[in-house]
Amino acid sequence: MKTQSIPYSNFAEQNRIEMVDFYNEATEDYEFWSNDYNMHFGYFVPFKTNLFKRDSMLNEMNMQVSKRLNISKTKNRLIDLGCGMGATMRYTLKKYKNVIAYGVTLSDFQVQKGNELLKGKNGIILKENYNHTSFQSNTFDSAVAIESFCHSGHNFSSLKEMHRLLKPGGRFVIADAFLKKERSQLCKGGKYAYNKLCSHWSLEKLETHQFIKKSLEDLGFKDIKVEDISFRVAPSVLHVPFAIAGFILKNLFGFKNLKRESLHNLKGSFYALLSGLHMKSFGYYIISATKR
Ligand SMILES: C[S@@+](CC[C@H](N)C(=O)[O-])C[C@H]1O[C@@H](n2cnc3c(N)ncnc32)[C@H](O)[C@@H]1O
Repeated sequence: MKTQSIPYSNFAEQNRIEMVDFYNEATEDYEFWSNDYNMHFGYFVPFKTNLFKRDSMLNEMNMQVSKRLNISKTKNRLIDLGCGMGATMRYTLKKYKNVIAYGVTLSDFQVQKGNELLKGKNGIILKENYNHTSFQSNTFDSAVAIESFCHSGHNFSSLKEMHRLLKPGGRFVIADAFLKKERSQLCKGGKYAYNKLCSHWSLEKLETHQFIKKSLEDLGFKDIKVEDISFRVAPSVLHVPFAIAGFILKNLFGFKNLKRESLHNLKGSFYALLSGLHMKSFGYYIISATKR
């Protein structure tokens, strides 16, 4: 973990700069993880998704998230807060013809390449900070945040901005890894995996799912649902060692040097696997709610 002596706001700023560099340089590598540029883990459904086909599980996560938005037949304005290359947006646009999708990210690479992938579709990616966007209040019917709020440490301000953006009656769905207990209560191995994961993937910190539930209650959300889906996600996490080995071999045979950011990303994936093994400390959750 980065030195604790750095004042918090400087630490957050430094983390953000590193995160943007990381995504500008390493986003391309995700093509190896997912043909559709899904930059998240998957959701396994027995007899539906194929254990050996990673993209089928990654797209099932998009399916599970979009299903919980309860999108009706009328026009639905959706925002993806931390949209990566827009894989979830493209999935949702294909499934629901009445959706207009906006994505925000801080990476120029993702804005440019993600918008190329969205060409001809009802969606656009903008360079905006999900903690304070320039959109008017009560603009969106739906919001999603898949493995993105962790970069800002599952901060209350990210949830507050999401609440501001949603119309009354609007729904959001978050899919992400959370702590099951306070950081101070993690065992030695858990603390090691946590610190390494945060520093390699530029995560400010992770919060507990209990903190998120309480924050959502404080913000006035209703129908708050916190689902532990760790066992559904585990099969795609187990793909990590094979994906890392394949990626390194591909680069070696192509006589390419691994970029610093790529190596950092690979190590981060390994620490995600290591964290996942500490099942009493970490879990993967889908959290959803409705704005009153
Ligand atoms: C692991 S990727 C997930 C991308 C996408 N949700 C997906 O599942 O494919 C995290 C994303 O969060 C974005 N992100 C992190 N912090 C952000 C911030 N403060 N404002 C906007 N986007 C942010 C990154 O640029 C990146 O696109």
